[in-house]
Amino acid sequence: MKPLAARTDALRQSDIRAVTFAVNAVNGINLGQGICDLPTPDPIKDGAHAAIDGDQSIYTSYAGIEKLRAGIAEKARGFNRLPVGSDEEVVVSVGSTGAFVATCLTLFEPGDECLVFEPFYGYHTGLLNLFGIKRVVAKLHAPDWSVDFDEVEALITERTKAVLVCTPSNPCGKVWSRAELEQMLALMEKHDLYAITDEIYEYMTYDGREHVSLGSLSGAYERTLTLSGFSKTYNMTGWRLGYAVGPERITGRMGLINDLIFICAPSPLQHGVAEAFAMDREAYFAEMQAAYAAKRMLMCETLERCGFTFHWPDGAYYVLANFEKLAQQRSGFEDDRAACDTLIREAGVAAVPGNSFFADPEDGRYVLRFCYAKKMPVLEEACRNLLRAFEQVAA
Ligand SMILES: Cc1ncc(COP(=O)(O)O)c(C=O)c1O
Repeated sequence: MKPLAARTDALRQSDIRAVTFAVNAVNGINLGQGICDLPTPDPIKDGAHAAIDGDQSIYTSYAGIEKLRAGIAEKARGFNRLPVGSDEEVVVSVGSTGAFVATCLTLFEPGDECLVFEPFYGYHTGLLNLFGIKRVVAKLHAPDWSVDFDEVEALITERTKAVLVCTPSNPCGKVWSRAELEQMLALMEKHDLYAITDEIYEYMTYDGREHVSLGSLSGAYERTLTLSGFSKTYNMTGWRLGYAVGPERITGRMGLINDLIFICAPSPLQHGVAEAFAMDREAYFAEMQAAYAAKRMLMCETLERCGFTFHWPDGAYYVLANFEKLAQQRSGFEDDRAACDTLIREAGVAAVPGNSFFADPEDGRYVLRFCYAKKMPVLEEACRNLLRAFEQVAA
């Protein structure tokens, strides 16, 4: 038979699925997948129930229902400090992933280049590849994931169309500072680049770190698409609701792309999530931040006692931990996949092998990513198991 599309040839299921399968087989605890196991807030669930009961079952406007777009616009003006003029500057999509797809298809021609920072989130680079957009990798430098802007500038070519900034970052927890974003903007203006920012973890920062949106800097908004969503903030990854905010010149076209691919985000769920904007969000976020700060402390202290080394995340809910020291002390830690198997076998705990986050898998050889978005008793059990299996090694 004739071959399938060449673009599918290199596609592989990520290691995360295989790890999930392996840890489930031993009834272990999965700190691999970035899925929060906390409940979705009641007002959102009640709103969706009411919408289903009220037969809000038909397609909505391709860019989302008015009430939701208005709520997002207000939030983007207040929390993100974006100069949003009208609700037309908001496109609701099928998760922030849907918004990313619409952004890519709106901005890039095949063969255009997009700067991405490494370690990266695999869906970003996977989707760029799928659309024939060349990812050009700029390094964030360990241990604290600093940016060398001379290096970044040296990577810019005639074909560079945009830069992708993920802040707070999955997988390394970097929170871009205002000064760094200003330097990035200077390069964008000098070389006429767009920015796509993934800010899905925007409410999860630690030690008083401020989340700054690139699009809020003077002059940045007209060339920036700010992506976010509800998956992480409200523990609802499976509802598939996210959005992009940006200048109407771009969001107008993005809405049309969103229409072609998705028609719209799920109608009753849009009605449900719109209720998030009527919640006491200040209290909700304060509680969420305190809970994640406690989990980060437990996870980081545990991993340090086990012999991992890393910069504590400034945001999001992952620790990207280096185990080179452990590899020198014992077998089972020859590389990231072996280390992952060893953790599952000896502690019943899963992490993600580091090669998923680097262009050259060798760069992730001694790296594992742990996700601490778990209910506290579950995380405590995982940490106890890790300590029981590995703490002596570190001593
Ligand atoms: C950086 C980043 N962006 C986007 C997503 C997916 O977001 P959504 O569920 O809104 O598509 C994830 C999920 O892990 C993520 O880590």
